[in-house]
This record gives sequence, structure tokens and C-alpha cells, in this order.
Amino acid sequence: MRLAGKVALITGAARGMGAAEARLFAREGAKVVVSDVLEDEARAVASEINDSGGEALALALDVSKDDDWRRVVAEAEARFGKLNVLVNNAGIIERHSLEETSEETWDRIMAVNAKGVFLGTKAALPAMRRAGGGSIINISSISGMVSVGYPAYNASKGAVRVFTKSAAVEYAGEGIRVNSIHPGAIWTPMSLYKNERTREERAATVPMGRVGDPEEVAYGALFLASDESSYVTGSEMVIDGGVTAE
Ligand SMILES: NC(=O)c1ccc[n+]([C@@H]2O[C@H](COP(=O)([O-])OP(=O)(O)OC[C@H]3O[C@@H](n4cnc5c(N)ncnc54)[C@H](O)[C@@H]3O)[C@@H](O)[C@H]2O)c1
Repeated sequence: MRLAGKVALITGAARGMGAAEARLFAREGAKVVVSDVLEDEARAVASEINDSGGEALALALDVSKDDDWRRVVAEAEARFGKLNVLVNNAGIIERHSLEETSEETWDRIMAVNAKGVFLGTKAALPAMRRAGGGSIINISSISGMVSVGYPAYNASKGAVRVFTKSAAVEYAGEGIRVNSIHPGAIWTPMSLYKNERTREERAATVPMGRVGDPEEVAYGALFLASDESSYVTGSEMVIDGGVTAE
């Protein structure tokens, strides 16, 4: 029960890493808001948590919309009384080379991956202040540190990395910690490697010889969400099987 008594809001929690974080956080005692644009899938994750003895609430949230954020933070506080943890996990990818990247693609990726993290952080801060502190966890990527070949996605995740440090410094004095996580190749619906063959090809590029599971990122988020990380802010947690160490 590493998150006993805490209320956590997770974006993009209908599937993939966000859903893994929602399930793990609930198992560790947190009340969880499962938010996503995929409303039916978010409801299914919340129901599964509630059916297995946890406490979860599904809410529709498009992270690129400021009005959505205000509504969701207010509903989270109304339902669970406070907000201690925000995981800015929602993200999208479009795989184009630089010259094939349209202005629309750039704007779309930036709106979700970069602006979404800014709007979410801004919306959560007053609630965390009311709660006496908090932890914000921004899911960037190793693409926020090194090139993976998709410039708009790379740039959006780089923005998340440095925005995290900016927010960490600004709110450190108020007990609100802000950290980023940088996953490498993780097996989720977003993954390009849709079948065993492409998965194995990708695994061969990883020093540990395999693709990661969503739960292996969720455990990193759990540490940052819990009081075990009480002196950790502005940090970058790399979870990539050794890819960026090469
Ligand atoms: N899978 C990987 O290999 C990998 C690696 C590094 C980083 N990441 C990042 O991890 C995060 C989670 O990715 P995943 O692999 O679980 O992907 P996923 O596609 O399985 O899940 C992403 C979730 O975000 C939701 N979402 C998309 N746009 C949204 C919006 N505007 N508002 C709210 N929700 C929205 C989707 O509906 C989906 O449920 C993303 O930020 C992604 O960029 C993924």
C-alpha cells in the first residue's frame, strides 16, 4: 500500500502504460481517476479496478483542451476530496521524416504531447497546493533525449523533458515535485512492432534483448508518485533496457 490515502489522476489511462499505472496505483491504495478520450475503454479500466476491490472513477478528458482539464480536476476533487498525484501520460505519435511532416502533424502532436502536459500541470497545481503538496509525473520518452527519427514526436517529448525541470524548480518550495519518465521500446497499442517478428527485430536493438512491458514503466511511476521519492524533483527516469546507455 505504497500510495495509501493518495488520489491520482492519470491521463491516457484507457490502455497501454496509463492503464497499467491506473491498475498498479489502485492496488497500492490510491483512489484513481482514469481519464482518456476513449471513454468506453476508460470506463472498462475503472470498472475492472472497482470490481477487484480498488477505487476508480472514469472521466472523459482531451488533454489538449483547457476546459476539459478544469472540469476533470474539479470532478476529481469533488469525488475524492483532493488531488495528490498527476501522471501526464497521454500521447500520440505519427511516424514521418522531417520533410514528410506536415504543419498539421506538427501542431497535432505538439497539442497533445507538449501542450497537454502544460495544461495538465497548470490545472493540477492549485489542487495540489490545497492538498499540501503533490507529485506530477510526465511521461516523456527516450525520444525526448536522443533522436528516434520522427522529428515532431522527438520535439514534443524534448519539450516535456525541459518543461518538467522548469516546473520542478518553480514549485519545489511548495512541496510539489515534478519528474519525467523516459521509456524506451514498450509493448503497447502505440508500438509499431505489431507482431512477434517486428517485436523480435526491435528487441534485438535493445541491450537487454527484449521490449519492455507497460508494468515496468508503471513501477517507476509508482516510486515517483509515492513518498519514497520525497527528495526527487526535476529528475529524468530512463526505463529503456539500456538503449540510451550505448
Ligand atoms: N510505447 C512506447 O514504446 C513508448 C515509448 C516511450 C514513450 N511512450 C509514451 O508513453 C505514453 C503512453 O503511451 P502508450 O505506449 O501507452 O500508448 P497508447 O497509444 O497505448 O496509449 C495512449 C493513450 O493516450 C490516449 N490519448 C491520445 N490522445 C489523447 C488526448 N488528446 N487526450 C487524452 N488522452 C489521449 C489514447 O486514447 C490512449 O489511451 C505516451 O505519452 C507515449 O508517447 C511510449
